[in-house]
Amino acid sequence: MDENDAILKFEDTSKRFPGVLALSNVSFAVEKGTVHALVGENGAGKSTLIKILTGVHKQSSGRVLYQGRDLHFGDPHQALLAGITAIYQELNLAPTLSVAENIFLGHLPKTGADTVDWAAMRAKSRDLLSFLDGEVDPNALVRSLGVAKKQVVEIAKALSMDARIIIMDEPTAAIPKKEIDTLFRIIRMLREKGVTIIYISHHIDEVFEIADRVTVLRDGRVVETRNTGEIDEPELIKLMVGRELTKQYPYHPGAPGAEVLRVENLSRRGVLHGISFSLRAGEVVGVSGMVGSGRTELLRAIYGIDPISSGAVYVNGAARRFKAPRDAIEAGIALLPEERKTSGLVLLMSVMDNIGLPSLQKMSTRGVMRDRELARTSERMRSLMNIRTPSLRQRVMNLSGGNQQKVVLGKWFARDPKIYLFDEPTRGIDVGAKVEIYNLMNRLKEQGAAILMVSSELPEILGMSDRVLVMREGRIAGEVPRERLTQEAVLKLAIGGEKI
Ligand SMILES: Nc1ncnc2c1ncn2[C@@H]1O[C@H](COP(=O)(O)OP(=O)(O)OP(=O)(O)O)[C@@H](O)[C@H]1O
Ligand SMILES: [Mg+2]
Repeated sequence: MDENDAILKFEDTSKRFPGVLALSNVSFAVEKGTVHALVGENGAGKSTLIKILTGVHKQSSGRVLYQGRDLHFGDPHQALLAGITAIYQELNLAPTLSVAENIFLGHLPKTGADTVDWAAMRAKSRDLLSFLDGEVDPNALVRSLGVAKKQVVEIAKALSMDARIIIMDEPTAAIPKKEIDTLFRIIRMLREKGVTIIYISHHIDEVFEIADRVTVLRDGRVVETRNTGEIDEPELIKLMVGRELTKQYPYHPGAPGAEVLRVENLSRRGVLHGISFSLRAGEVVGVSGMVGSGRTELLRAIYGIDPISSGAVYVNGAARRFKAPRDAIEAGIALLPEERKTSGLVLLMSVMDNIGLPSLQKMSTRGVMRDRELARTSERMRSLMNIRTPSLRQRVMNLSGGNQQKVVLGKWFARDPKIYLFDEPTRGIDVGAKVEIYNLMNRLKEQGAAILMVSSELPEILGMSDRVLVMREGRIAGEVPRERLTQEAVLKLAIGGEKI
C-alpha cells in the first residue's frame, strides 16, 4: 500500500483504563476508499479503538493520524464535523421524528437565519435515500422502521454530513439475512464513492465477503493486518484466538430423560396461536423461524413476562400459571433475554453483584447475602466462561459487549436451573467463546437440564439441536428431528414452501 493513500494511521496508540491496558502500542493504517475489518475476541479492544476515533475516549499515548494530521477530538460532535461517524448497535435516532428530520437533525438546512428550509431538507433526503435504498420513505416516522431501515437512515445521516469514514460496530447482529445483502450492497456503493468503511464483526464469513483488509486484535495488540484475499477462514480464526479451533459445533447426542416442560395450546392474542410442544431433560431443542415469527414472544409468554390468552404450561407434570418471571424462576426456569443490556443486566452494579442477583435467596441466610459464597460463585463463573475483567468488583458497564453477555449467562448458571430458555445465546460473542458456550450447553445437558434455544443463526441451530421447532406467523409450522435436520428442511417450514 502506498503510504500516501492512508486516510487513517495508528502509531503506537495505547489506551489504559484503571487496571486494564485496553490497547497496547497499536500500529496499522487504513487505506482510503476501502472496507477495513477489525476482528478479535471479546475484550480485544475493538470498540475502544473506535471510541478514540469518534472522540469518546482519548488515547493514553501514541498517535492517531487522520488525513495526515494528528487527530484531536474533544467530543463526538467534533469527530462528526471532521467526517468520522460511527453507527452503533443501539442506534441514535429520534423515534418520533420523520426520516428526513432525523437525517438533518443537528444540521438543518436554512433559508434565513432562523428559518428551516423544509423543502431542501426533504429533497436532499430523497436524493440520499434513493441512492442508498429506494424503499425508505423520507416522510415516514423513524419508529415505524425495522432495525435494518434505521441503519439506512443512520448511513444517510452520515452522508449528509459528508462522512469520509463510516464505522460499523457489529451492524448485522440484529438484522435478517436479506437485509444484510442490502447493507453489503450499500457498503460497496459507498466504497465506490471513496468512503472508507471500518467494519467490526464476529461473523468471519462476513469479513471475507465484504472487507478488503483485516486487522486482528488480541489482548489490545495488533496481531496482524492482512488482505482478505491472502488469508483463509481457519487461519484468521487462529490469529484471533491464538489456537486452532477444531470443532465449531461440539454436538453430543445425550440421553433425553423425562418430560420437564410441556406447553399446551398456548395462545396470545394476535401473536401466538395454539402452540404445543414438550421439552425433555437432557435435550436441546432449537427454535427457528424468520424475524417476527414469534420466537421471542413464545419464550416471554412461557416465562410469564407477557400474559397468555389461553393454553397451559406444565413443569414436571404440574400445571403452572406464571404471573411474573419471579414465578418462573421459582419453578426452576431461566430466561436469557435477547436484549441483554436492557433486561439482562444492571450496568451500574459490579460483575459479582450481577451474578448474585438471581441467586439472592439461595445464597443468603435470613436475607443476608453470604459474601464468601457470592465471591466463590462469581469466581467460578468467571473462570468457567473466561469473563475478562480486572476484578469481580468492576462495574458491568465497563466490560466489553461480549463479556457483558457472558455475565448474563453466568448469573443464570450460578442458580443452577433445570430449564433454560435461551434467546440468541451467542449474539455478539466471539468465535472462541461460542465454542465454550456450546461446551457448557453439553455439560448442562449431561446434568439433566433442558434447553430451548431460539437462534437466528441457522448453523448454530443445525449444529447444536437435538430437534428443531420451526415457527411461522405465531404458529409451530413443524418439527424436524436431528436425523432429518438440514438447512432446506428448516427453511421450507419457516417460509411456508415459497422461495425466499
Ligand atoms: N470505560 C471503561 N472502563 C474500564 N475498562 C474498560 C472501559 N471500556 C473498555 N474497557 C476494557 O477494555 C478492554 C477492551 O474492551 P472493548 O470494549 O474495546 O473490547 P471489544 O474488542 O470491543 O470486545 P467485544 O467483542 O466484546 O465487543 C476490555 O477489557 C474492557 O473491559
Ligand atoms: Mg465491542
